Order: sequence, then structure tokens, then C-alpha cells
Amino acid sequence: MAAPGSNGEWMVVGPRRGMPRRGIREKPMVRAKALEERESWTPIDSENDPEGVLKLTCKVELLMKKMESSLFYHALMKQIEDPEVFGCFIRVLGSSSQMQMVVYGIGSIESYEPPRLQLSLALLMKRKFSWIGDIEVFDPILSKMECEVLESLGCRILSINEQGRRNVLKPTLFFMPHCEADLYNNLLQANWSADSLKRIALFGNSFHTYKLASELNGSIVQSAKHVLAAAEFADEFKVEIVSDDFLRAFHDSSWHFFGSVLESKLPSIFS
Ligand SMILES: C[S@@+](CC[C@H](N)C(=O)[O-])C[C@H]1O[C@@H](n2cnc3c(N)ncnc32)[C@H](O)[C@@H]1O
Repeated sequence: MAAPGSNGEWMVVGPRRGMPRRGIREKPMVRAKALEERESWTPIDSENDPEGVLKLTCKVELLMKKMESSLFYHALMKQIEDPEVFGCFIRVLGSSSQMQMVVYGIGSIESYEPPRLQLSLALLMKRKFSWIGDIEVFDPILSKMECEVLESLGCRILSINEQGRRNVLKPTLFFMPHCEADLYNNLLQANWSADSLKRIALFGNSFHTYKLASELNGSIVQSAKHVLAAAEFADEFKVEIVSDDFLRAFHDSSWHFFGSVLESKLPSIFS
């Protein structure tokens, strides 16, 4: 089972995360900064590891093959192609032929399987749907080697830590698997107008679950006012986990769309 914790972090009961596994290089410790200032970013390390890049790239490609033939993937593609969900993507696209994908908070693709599975899904979606454009990726914990792997798989790494506050000017799918509530909140806060929200599709932790958790445990509210407000009007479609292999990577995830809110009905939120 999974549940949002008191700080809005997504928790799953299972093997402890963050424990370096044997044989895996320990990552430099990067403390998450307060999600406020935008700043330029480069990976902390500067290690050249062409062999590691090749090995990890192959590992992700193999995982993509495994995912592509899974029941989970087929169910997810069916969900996206369902007229109700697809209609939401079409509304986000408007008159554009493509929406770009921004991947925030993917985690360490070298150290953990869930981030690799999440990345595999993003790459498979781009490959399958012609309406998905370029993929941009940012996570402050990425190593130089991981950045090179992502680039070799066709992604562009952002050199600015936007703290999730990207001002959305064109249709964009934000792929934010299991990010912290603050990051979703920053994104929504930066785009808190009906005109901007309608250009956003968001894959991430279920806003509905945040809402339920806030009713039980008010402490999440401070960092997630926009998330909780958006939960009231978002069209949310929960991702169905049809096999245990994908549980850790995708539990409690949903597609969210915000195009149905009218400017006049958008609540004012003062932080
Ligand atoms: C709870 S972890 C989830 C990691 C991975 N998606 C998973 O499910 O295992 C949240 C991730 O968000 C990243 N993060 C923190 N601040 C960020 C920012 N400003 N922009 C993008 N990612 C950020 C963290 O480094 C961390 O990897």
C-alpha cells in the first residue's frame, strides 16, 4: 500500500529506499533545496564512464522491451486511447500537433528500478504517439553518467532547476512520477489561470489521494494548497496496476487534466 506522508512525500511500504545497494556506486548526497529559487544546474560529479553509459543504456532498452510486452503497458495504452482520456489530451493539444514532455523528478536511473521503469514508459509513449514531442528531463540528483544515458536515449537535460515553476506557453505533458507535493504545487501555482492550466496534462501522484489524505491529516495542506484546490476540478484518471512488477513504480498514479475550469471559478489562493 502507498500513502502520502505527513510532508507530502510518497511512501510505499517495502524495501527501504535510499540505501545504496552493493555494487552500485554511491551517489553524492544532494539535499533537496527549498523549492523556491530557479538556478542553473550541472551534475555534481564529473566522472567519465563510457562503459557505464553503454551498460545502463542497454539496461533501459531491455526494460523498455519488457515493459512493451507487459499487461500493465497494454492496459495503460488502452486507457490513453479510451475516448474520454484521449479527448482530454486532444483538448490540451488544441490546435498544436504535438505536446512536449517534461520529466521532473525521475530519480536515480542508475540505482533504482522504479525510475528506470518510469523512464521506459516515457520513452515508449514518445515512440508510440506521434503527438508527443521532445522530452526534457530534470532531477537535481542525476549524475553526469545518468545525464549521458538520458541524452543517448533522445532526452534533453535541463540546465536550469526550474523548481517545477515552468510557465506553460504551449501544450505540455508533465511526467512527474511520485514527485513530492511541493513540486506539483509549484507547477500549478506558476500556471494558476484557466488559460495556462488547459495546456497542461500531468502524470503524477493522485490529487484525489492527496485530498483524502488532507482530510485525515491536515499537515499536507500548507505545501499543497494549489494541489488540493486543483483536485476539486481536475479530470483525474487513475492508473490501473494490473501486475505487481509495476507496483512500486506506478502505484497511486493518475493522469490529470485541468481544462474544464473557468477563470471565474478558479479559487484565489494566497500563500
Ligand atoms: C520521491 S522521489 C521520486 C523518484 C522516482 N520518480 C521514484 O518514483 O522513485 C522525488 C524526486 O524528485 C526530485 N526533485 C527534487 N526537487 C526537484 C526539482 N526541483 N525538479 C525536479 N526534480 C526534483 C528528487 O531529487 C527525487 O529524485
